[in-house]
Amino acid sequence: METCENICWQYKNDLKHLYSLKEIDEFIRMAFLKLSDWNRIDVSLNKKTKINKDAVLAHKNIINRLSNYEPIQYILQETNFYNLVINVKEGVLIPRPETEELVHWVLDFVKDNDHVLDVGTGSGCIALAVKSFSASINVTGLDNSSNAISIAQQNSRNLNLDVSFEIDDILAPRSHYKSWDIIISNPPYIPFSDKKSMHDNVLNFEPDNALFVSDDEPLIFYNAVAKFALKQLNDGGLIFFEIHEKKSDETLELLASLGSKKLKLKRICKVKIG
Ligand SMILES: C[S@@+](CC[C@H](N)C(=O)[O-])C[C@H]1O[C@@H](n2cnc3c(N)ncnc32)[C@H](O)[C@@H]1O
Repeated sequence: METCENICWQYKNDLKHLYSLKEIDEFIRMAFLKLSDWNRIDVSLNKKTKINKDAVLAHKNIINRLSNYEPIQYILQETNFYNLVINVKEGVLIPRPETEELVHWVLDFVKDNDHVLDVGTGSGCIALAVKSFSASINVTGLDNSSNAISIAQQNSRNLNLDVSFEIDDILAPRSHYKSWDIIISNPPYIPFSDKKSMHDNVLNFEPDNALFVSDDEPLIFYNAVAKFALKQLNDGGLIFFEIHEKKSDETLELLASLGSKKLKLKRICKVKIG
């Protein structure tokens, strides 16, 4: 039987040419938490503890998949987002820490009983985090991927957070929507030409539809969401976007040209319109 120490050594030895030691330590932490419910301190206190056969096989499978650059969140089928455990699978974007900052900003403005729409909801992470803030907020998430919507619905059930999720294409939205107090979106915004500078663990596993836009129309989603918002937002309503860090000027110009007022840019990658 192998000990915890042997398993940790295997992670380090097999992955050291692919990942930094810091990243490998994080994989070890996440894998032991998922498989044995051990936190970092448990792992260091249990160095000599024997690991059962099934868990050893599971660790070897994780190491093997990490060697193929598969993201740890897909392997473990979950990630943490704004203190929520969000299930993720291939076909849905892995929520990013910078998107937690967007939620944090939104929560300064959302009020009880507000109607909030999350456009391009993916795993539902933004919509669910907003709902977790207060049960009285009415939250809807929409996405054109049926795969994403079914994962978002599963997350809503697992977390017991009552968010409604709908399939729709924001580039040609159905017209029956009600009006909203807040619209949030982290849409696809990476031009296809940026692909060459991106890592295999993103390119080989995360969905193109969630990430990329054509080089000719890099702001297509900001244009679509802003036009939708002009029709569907209540008086005094707000839009929040996560945006491309190198496209803040163009995005602000586009939003201003569509009639958005009081544009506010935060940390060069997020924008609020009020
Ligand atoms: C950058 S991901 C964001 C996912 C999630 N909100 C998050 O922050 O992790 C963009 C999302 O937009 C969705 N999407 C792409 N094209 C769309 C469209 N035409 N209409 C609606 N959603 C779309 C993708 O399926 C994907 O889930």
